[in-house]
Amino acid sequence: MTATPDAALDPFAAATRAITEPHPARAALRAAGPIVRVEAPAGGPAWIITDDALAREALVHPRIVKDPAYAPSGWDPRAAALEPTAAAQPSLTTCDGPAHTRLRRAHAPLFTARRISGYTERVTALARDLLTPLADTGGTVDLAADFTTRFPLTVVCDVLGVPLDRVDQAIAACRGMYSSDPGEVGAAMASFGDLAAAALAEGRHGLAVELRDRIPEEFTEPQLHYLLFTLIYAGQLTTDPALGFLLARVLGTGPAARDGNAVEELVRDTLRRHAPAPFSLWRFTSDDIDLGGLRLPARSPVLIDIQGINTDPARPAGPDLAFGAGPHYCTGAQLALLELGAVVNVLRADFPHARLAVPYDELRQTDFGGIQGSRLTALPVRLRG
Ligand code: HEM
Repeated sequence: MTATPDAALDPFAAATRAITEPHPARAALRAAGPIVRVEAPAGGPAWIITDDALAREALVHPRIVKDPAYAPSGWDPRAAALEPTAAAQPSLTTCDGPAHTRLRRAHAPLFTARRISGYTERVTALARDLLTPLADTGGTVDLAADFTTRFPLTVVCDVLGVPLDRVDQAIAACRGMYSSDPGEVGAAMASFGDLAAAALAEGRHGLAVELRDRIPEEFTEPQLHYLLFTLIYAGQLTTDPALGFLLARVLGTGPAARDGNAVEELVRDTLRRHAPAPFSLWRFTSDDIDLGGLRLPARSPVLIDIQGINTDPARPAGPDLAFGAGPHYCTGAQLALLELGAVVNVLRADFPHARLAVPYDELRQTDFGGIQGSRLTALPVRLRG
């Protein structure tokens, strides 16, 4: 039998803490065992996997699925922030098995390391274009107020072919997704549809048009729009907070010295310490299964504690789980690495005197609660020193 962690250490609680303070529930979860039963935010039991090997087993398990059709029948999909079922809305994040493989095949060639490296110059120029006017103000700028959101969205819009005069609309749509008002979330989804349509309009050239030509024939236009929504939203949700933690480290006196670190290593290490997706997305058992010595009934919700596993002092050497593992491994990983590295390179080349305007230790992060990650509350920086 697994222990249930102390209710005072709710892993899904919203809270604000110092950038240097570890998440309060992670060590307790690990101490409770490799698979830990907790109370799900939407009610009832859920199982959190805290062990690297067991996580990797679960991530490829044929009877641990993503389709919200297998969510506990008592869950309110809205309260649980579930996506539509795979039947209602096929998506990379909700399909399993052969349907998922077909969608991955459609996306894969567009997001390979080789293909994405072709955007290096463009992404670097976009970082420079956004940072230079901020530096020219000559004062202290809060990079978490706008830049860390705007830059990833500018990049993802650019590569997909969404016109860049729509970036403000993309920012508003992403922010709308955080609303507790269903009307606002609905408006944000409609706005994403509009952005997708703009990328697919006559004469546009970008990955959106390429994806349209590659997806299974039976896909409708709204279904394609949903695939593009997934790319835009997933591209902001994770890269935005990651950029905050990375810049804090590069410009402050945090755990890494600002010079002398290979950029990709610095980026990967930051993602490992501050996993932008601290939990996997929800998975559900499609049948009764045995996992980690437990019998889980069908429709059991399962999460991987990516953050806890990544920061486990006993984690085996090898790749971490920042981008997941198995068939649902992050589609945008290469793009995210390129974006994050490009900002560091531009800072080092163009703004060598840039520094944090406050001591590193005074920066704070907010955990948004549920399975969402944390983000810096502010990142005051002097770009010209
Ligand atoms: C630092 C930035 C990022 C991190 C840490 C990250 C992390 C992750 C993780 C952990 C997963 C797997 C979730 C699971 O298995 O439950 C995932 C999936 C995914 N990510 Fe990312 N991501 C990042 C950036 C991006 C970007 C830039 C894009 C789009 C361009 C993107 C698009 C996706 C998509 C579409 C999936 C679903 C893949 C599937 O289910 O087959 N991500 N990401």
